[in-house]
Amino acid sequence: MDQQPKPAERAIEAFRSRFGASPTVVARAPGRVNLIGEHTDYTGGFVLPVAIDREVVVAGRARSDGTVCVYSADFDQSVCFQLDEARLDDVRKDPRHPWSDYVRGIYAVLQAEGLPVRGAELAIAGDVPQGAGLSSSAALEVATLLFAQATGGFEVEPVRAALLARRAENEFVGVACGIMDQFVSRLARRDAALLVDTDSLRYEHVPLPPDVAIVVTDTRVRRQLVGSEYNLRRQQCEEALAIARRHVSGWRLVREIGAEQLSALRDLMPRVLMRRLRHLVEENARVLDAVQALGAGDLGRFGELMAASHASLRDLFEVSCPELDAAVEIARAVPGVYGARMTGAGFGGCTVTLARPDAVPAVVAALEAEYPRRTGKTPQIFVLRAAQGADWHTL
Ligand code: GLA
Repeated sequence: MDQQPKPAERAIEAFRSRFGASPTVVARAPGRVNLIGEHTDYTGGFVLPVAIDREVVVAGRARSDGTVCVYSADFDQSVCFQLDEARLDDVRKDPRHPWSDYVRGIYAVLQAEGLPVRGAELAIAGDVPQGAGLSSSAALEVATLLFAQATGGFEVEPVRAALLARRAENEFVGVACGIMDQFVSRLARRDAALLVDTDSLRYEHVPLPPDVAIVVTDTRVRRQLVGSEYNLRRQQCEEALAIARRHVSGWRLVREIGAEQLSALRDLMPRVLMRRLRHLVEENARVLDAVQALGAGDLGRFGELMAASHASLRDLFEVSCPELDAAVEIARAVPGVYGARMTGAGFGGCTVTLARPDAVPAVVAALEAEYPRRTGKTPQIFVLRAAQGADWHTL
């Protein structure tokens, strides 16, 4: 069992010892794991993530000048910046404290929106594994945004908060992610997945059946490629869609392409673009099927869709790697497992497995025994719950 104090206690304690006073505002935001709907959120598709019970907590208080001082308990580092230095039109990142760019980025975006942020002192602590693809950065962005709104005395409606947090990531940090991570971190509900239509930004909470456990396996593979390959996939999707649009009139969104139209497009674009497009079309359909399966309590069907999603990410979208494939195969062979797939951007990071709760010890044992044998690496395994999205309170 994890004996470390919870992030909220650590953030509050860190604030007290660092700033010699009690914090007045505590904001928290969870990481996420995506159940299905991968690489669909930058072409207006569907995603079905859950927030996880791993979170980033920001504790602090406003100050009367325009300075923001941040202490990271996880890195044991402090940074101060002036509010008027946190700008989107003149982005100045801090290469010595890259974690602080998420905080600066949020302040920069809120100021660009004309929102009345105030100077502040804040301490940050989290237990979302970093760099594992569980969106510790989105959690930090969303928690900082809630903290800034609470100390500034203004409201940001949740969907707008997700959009602003993503804007900080896109325009300040410089990562071209879609909306999924910030959206689910802000809007998720406990024990439910979140269906998001990333075109209209409409969403629906989809309750998870009680007899399902979520096991996340970190492959411990960190590929430097993630960023460049992610951008390349985005570009390929756009090219494929531009070609498709020239030939099929009357549709706007990937989800509107049917199987027949898809095969009619086959000779009109390079094979690699066709593979990307096919993944998008089919993955969107799988998300809607998966929501239906959850509604019907049919976890067997949900697991089949996860298997198809993984195969598509491996063979058509080409973002898996041998370690992800191994973790998926090992988990899937355990009795009581409904399904397993890679999750997140790919090229390493995590897999997600849905299993009967009583099968969890066997899943963990199989991964701990088999994964090192097949890959030479030690996995990190988390048994997680679908958690509530971000919130804040005063002390
Ligand atoms: C990363 C991005 C998300 C999404 C996934 C792939 O996690 O941050 O926006 O595109 O990859 O589904």
